[in-house]
Amino acid sequence: MDKIVIKGGVPLKGAVRISGAKNSALPLLFATLLADGESRITNVPKLRDISTAVKLLVELGARVDQEDDCCRIDANNIQGVEAPYDLVKTMRASVLVLGPLLARCGRARVSLPGGCAIGARPIDLHLKGLEALGARIQLDHGYVEATAEQLQGAKISFDMPTVGGTENLLMAAALAKGETVLENAAREPEIVQLADALNSMGAKIEGAGTAIIHIQGVDRLQGLNCQVIPDRIEAGTFMIAAAITGGDVLVQNAARCDLEALIGKLSETGVVIKEQDDGLRIVAPERVHPVDIRTSVFPGFPTDMQAQFMALMTCAEGTSRISETVFENRFMHVCELQRMGADIQIDGHSAIIRGVGKLTGAPVMATDLRASASLVLAGLAADNTTEISRIYHLDRGYEKIEEKLAALGARIWREQE
Ligand code: UD1
Repeated sequence: MDKIVIKGGVPLKGAVRISGAKNSALPLLFATLLADGESRITNVPKLRDISTAVKLLVELGARVDQEDDCCRIDANNIQGVEAPYDLVKTMRASVLVLGPLLARCGRARVSLPGGCAIGARPIDLHLKGLEALGARIQLDHGYVEATAEQLQGAKISFDMPTVGGTENLLMAAALAKGETVLENAAREPEIVQLADALNSMGAKIEGAGTAIIHIQGVDRLQGLNCQVIPDRIEAGTFMIAAAITGGDVLVQNAARCDLEALIGKLSETGVVIKEQDDGLRIVAPERVHPVDIRTSVFPGFPTDMQAQFMALMTCAEGTSRISETVFENRFMHVCELQRMGADIQIDGHSAIIRGVGKLTGAPVMATDLRASASLVLAGLAADNTTEISRIYHLDRGYEKIEEKLAALGARIWREQE
């Protein structure tokens, strides 16, 4: 297994190019299951989750050709309808095949993802929504078995906004008969990209990016041809990398409109963020001010940036409070950051962080994707050497992170354990 080694203390300088968004590429890849023709998706990041998605498409009978950042998918002759446990357990987003398979083949058998490190993460809202569209759903030996001769449009009001649930329902409703209305839908940029992509395939979707989405079902969808949007979480992570090291970095491709909540909070810490033609330039002060955050659904502060922001706050000049409202167990990075000298106290769903002058390098362990990123950030700011093990989590969601950071001057490399 690989580990990442960092000798911290170097202010990052230069420009970094942000890759395509993992969380957008995944639903787009699964949306190709709905298409009659061949699909082509570009700016697909090279990540472990993407390889898992491709494996799943192939398992279902699709032909997939990958060249550089381009994926061509021909799902015309899919025969399989099963997403097996082995694939779903490594990537929860595999449940996104449920909607497309039901709509296209009238049947789907998908392993239940079960709990994951950051919380229970049920899929009850996905299933309730599909039932409202007329699907019959049974749970059997850890599998969701869903069938429907013809999905029928319906009005679905989500109990809470769910990104995956909204995506699954968008894909299923695109080929349902009649109109579907999704209320209290998630509004993330990845939802907007999926709706735009489906529309380019011939779907009739209006309102994506707002809480109410209208979908007029159509009989067939043609192949998809689109480019994945830049990854706002990767962009945010590099913005904090600049901030935590007192650096000056141009984050190329970062889309301001997708990052408003983070930009607002980073500005309050004293970081200067300048919008340029090709991205956002981050100029950091020597030490940041403490700022409180509360995670919430888009356009609120993203839960996927919580761990990274906490790393920044461990070095702030004063005390801050971070409240996590989206997932119930998303503070696993806390004890690892404490190993590096951070002063953090957990109080229910909040963490109180007293900034310390300097973190100290230590051996730490990655526990989930974004927690791993927070440890990398802490390592960049810390004195001495930090060694991060179990970095397969990091490889699920960050393309060549150590190469990109090294190009900005960081002393970081990968070693075999
Ligand atoms: C997606 C993102 C993930 C991000 C999360 C929240 C992908 C591949 N993953 O995950 O990176 O952290 O959005 O922005 O895009 N819930 C239920 N029942 C359901 C569905 C969700 O109770 O059927 C709850 C979850 O437990 C969680 C909350 O709703 O507390 C939000 O989850 P959701 O938006 O569905 O997250 P994901 O789509 O899994």
